[in-house]
Amino acid sequence: MATPILLTDLVSAGVERVPASYVRPLSDRPNLVEVETSPEGSIALIDLAGLHGPDHSHVISQLAIACQTDGFFQIKNHGIPESLIKKVMTVAREFFRLPESERLKNYSDDPTKTTRLSTSFNVKTEKVANWRDFLRLHCYPLEDYIHDWPSNPLSFKQDVADYCTCVRGLVMRLLEAISESLDLEKDYISKQMGKHAQHMAMNYYPPCPQPDLTFGLPGHTDPNLITVLLQDDVRGLQVLRNGKWVAVDPIPNTFIINIGDQMQVISNDQYKSVLHRVVVNCERDRISIPTFYCPSEEAMIGPAEELVKREGVAKYRDFTYNEYYTKFWDRDLAKESTLDLFRTP
Ligand code: OGA
Ligand code: NI
Repeated sequence: MATPILLTDLVSAGVERVPASYVRPLSDRPNLVEVETSPEGSIALIDLAGLHGPDHSHVISQLAIACQTDGFFQIKNHGIPESLIKKVMTVAREFFRLPESERLKNYSDDPTKTTRLSTSFNVKTEKVANWRDFLRLHCYPLEDYIHDWPSNPLSFKQDVADYCTCVRGLVMRLLEAISESLDLEKDYISKQMGKHAQHMAMNYYPPCPQPDLTFGLPGHTDPNLITVLLQDDVRGLQVLRNGKWVAVDPIPNTFIINIGDQMQVISNDQYKSVLHRVVVNCERDRISIPTFYCPSEEAMIGPAEELVKREGVAKYRDFTYNEYYTKFWDRDLAKESTLDLFRTP
């Protein structure tokens, strides 16, 4: 029988060992015993309820500190209804449980396609495969893309569209707060995004017989502006802090927010797009649903003029998001960030 295209089907056929194509070289393995796992040592949990009241400036300064240090934080009281979170998780799980032939209708290894199911990260460029399948969807403006989305499960389009719209509202509030935390006009960051774009992924990480040999996703930074991550109740995400990997354990009804490369550029390096990775485990499959909020392709990105004036130096040259994004996908998910290609000398 031919090797299945998707990892899901390889795993459900029963694998007792990680196939050689997924095995990382010795110097590049998860080293799971060295991970910081204490919940107290994890990333900040910020209560957004305080954003619109007397605690406003306190919340803004919590955001500033999180963006300057970890580049990651968790949020509660974010305004996304629990029912919507449940629905999008359920429909994602149902999707990955569909028969192989049904899932494969959406398959493509071309990163420029706006709706596609694929596996690993970029099968065309990478040397070692990753323990992941993923469905990627462009989702703003909805009407441009929704017709291409899967129509199985039946409620997929509706449930995912409702979720996307709601998450976009949250992102708009976060962008205002983050602009304010940088002492910029509230609408500054949003105005730099051109027509705006929003992508999402549904990541499916099957159980793995030898989780110390491979990654769900190796260390990378996100190329977009800001990421809003929903994860199920299985741990797997780790964030790099002072040279050490820190586990981010799931907390129900919270989201994980991380600063992407574009935010690091706009902030002129004040805010950090931080390396993170996903490890897998031998017991349970894991689903995560990141929303990647982005500039539109033609948007010109560069350090905020106001911040350059304050600091006296622009750390990056200006570029279009299209130029950046193309370079990101052309590289393997390398340890060095794409950002370095745009730094000023
Ligand atoms: C990503 C990512 C984290 C996760 O898709 O870029 O970092 O927990 N995902 O799946
Ligand atoms: Ni990521």
